[in-house]
Amino acid sequence: MEMKSLSFLVVLSLLAITLPFAIASDPSPLQDFCVAVNTPADGVFVNGKFCKDPKLATADDFFFSGLQNARPVTNPVKSNVTTVNVNNLPGLNTLGISLVRIDYGVNGQNPPHTHPRATEILYVAEGTLLVGFVTSNLDNRLFTKTLNVGDVFVFPEGLIHFQVNVGKYPAVAFAALSSQNAGVITIANTVFGSTPMIDSSILARAFQLDPRIVMDLQVKFKPKN
Ligand SMILES: *[C@@H]1O[C@H](CO)[C@@H](O)[C@H](O)[C@H]1NC(C)=O
Repeated sequence: MEMKSLSFLVVLSLLAITLPFAIASDPSPLQDFCVAVNTPADGVFVNGKFCKDPKLATADDFFFSGLQNARPVTNPVKSNVTTVNVNNLPGLNTLGISLVRIDYGVNGQNPPHTHPRATEILYVAEGTLLVGFVTSNLDNRLFTKTLNVGDVFVFPEGLIHFQVNVGKYPAVAFAALSSQNAGVITIANTVFGSTPMIDSSILARAFQLDPRIVMDLQVKFKPKN
């Protein structure tokens, strides 16, 4: 084999070895489990959490209770998301999975949002939901479906999606996410409620809105704390 194609092969095999690690989001665990303990307050951060000594792990590290309880929906969007992720179920650390319960009041909605690190599979336990997601900028295609009890729908990773209670009664859904810590970007809150605020003239042009409407939205979405 000539030298050129040999070095090409070497580069290719190096890429093949390193690439899976470079692009993995929630990496596969390298041991049975890695029960999370919080980063010590010494200014050092790791990508994830430290592991508890496996010999000290107990069944409670893999346990969460309370998802049977409805959460109050007395807020402008009339919904409430209860999250079970690595922060309140430490045994999820490194496993690439988490769970949420979503309560919807009558006319409530889980407004357009995206999870930067997870695909979401949603199951309707009570009520009727109109759900949808939009593809990225190539064509911005909307996919929607009306779901009833027992129905399941998937929102692909990173895409903007929503659920709306279109039934006569409160609704409940459960969803699994393919990350121990999926993250959430709620479009309106992120864009109009950032700290500090994005200059209203920027948003006025971006959304083709009167600057006064943008300022009104910025007041509405200003974080309350
Ligand atoms: C959701 O419910 C929790 C627990 O009752 C409450 O503290 C929180 O304020 C609620 N969130 C919203 C957005 O209403």
